[in-house]
Amino acid sequence: MSKTFKTFLKHTAKDYHNQSVNPPIVRASTIIFKSMEDIRRTQNKGKKDPTGGHFDYGRQGTSTTHILQKILTKLEESYYVFVTPTGFGAVFLAIFSVVRPGDEILVADPVYSPTRLLTQDYLKEFNIKTIFYNPHDLKTLSNNITKKTKLIFVENPGSNSFEFQDLGKILSIAKKKRIFTAIDNTWATPYFFKPIKLGFDMSIVSATKYYSGHSDVMGGSLAVNKKVFDKVRKAERITGLRLGPDDAYLITRGLRTLDVRLDRHQENAKKIAGFLSKYKNIKLLYPYKKDSFNFRMWKKYYSGASGLMGLKIKCKSIKSIRKFVNSLNLFGYGYSWGGFESLALHQEFREMGKRKFMNLAKDEHFVRLHIGLEDPKDLIDDLRKSLKHIK
Ligand SMILES: Cc1ncc(COP(=O)(O)O)c(C=O)c1O
Repeated sequence: MSKTFKTFLKHTAKDYHNQSVNPPIVRASTIIFKSMEDIRRTQNKGKKDPTGGHFDYGRQGTSTTHILQKILTKLEESYYVFVTPTGFGAVFLAIFSVVRPGDEILVADPVYSPTRLLTQDYLKEFNIKTIFYNPHDLKTLSNNITKKTKLIFVENPGSNSFEFQDLGKILSIAKKKRIFTAIDNTWATPYFFKPIKLGFDMSIVSATKYYSGHSDVMGGSLAVNKKVFDKVRKAERITGLRLGPDDAYLITRGLRTLDVRLDRHQENAKKIAGFLSKYKNIKLLYPYKKDSFNFRMWKKYYSGASGLMGLKIKCKSIKSIRKFVNSLNLFGYGYSWGGFESLALHQEFREMGKRKFMNLAKDEHFVRLHIGLEDPKDLIDDLRKSLKHIK
């Protein structure tokens, strides 16, 4: 019987041996074999079928991590998915798998600020040059391609500023010049957009966010096509960047309800966006206004939107922003997002990594909201009361 992905998520990874609807957590450093021949047989199987989950040492994973990888490979519709201890580990793995000293890389200007620091500063120490391109002016991408360009690194939408890019155009530029492509797809997850299907070589998701969904685990995933599989596998083995089985179990558990949660995050976020769009001093950074380029690009490539949005607020002083966020009761104040609970965070322009193509006026401030799974009426009441402080 063919099943939709939603049904697959509920019925996968059962453990018939132990009569449990959930898989066991297999923790292992040593994996024991019956004999010298047995270990060789497993190693030979691993050489013939490197995606098949044949382990001879715990650093390569156990059946618990393999189950998660199989679910994610199906969700991504990719060749394979590597799992890493954090989302940022997956960013690092993607870049270091294909980039070497002397290369150049092109990176979207509004990337997650640690990704900016990694590419702009750390890669420089390895003689790798980073050029940032304007997400809404792809001439700044194509005009900066040289013979040394090895990778285009996209994050969509832009971190905190939520620009949506013309991903198809970026891919056709990259393909013509035989440049590798990677995208950070944490905002949408492959539930709403499948980058490998569109043509990206690598796709990153911080599993810390919607995959786990309960704000209690860190993890990352890197989906790949066949072209880059060997390169990433080699880098993964060398760096030892692999998720542990306990975290893999929690992420697998979170995935069971990914569809239900993301549909509800989307529904709630749309209601909040409708409410916020009535405020003249707030520019909503979310695919909501039908006449914008961002909306068109979102509609072209995505089947839905998650619960993370930005507010660009015009007000006289930072004091108003402070009063606004401090008086919220249902929105916790803190980093990360993708959990069941709503969160707010003021974003200093400084924290956004000194972007090249974005300037904020003195009276403009960014606040990021993660819309959780609470009753949206309560969230709206909380926002209405607290927004009175914006002067
Ligand atoms: C878009 C994006 N990518 C990657 C990461 C890094 O993920 P992690 O915190 O799991 O290392 C984050 C974390 O906030 C993020 O927002």
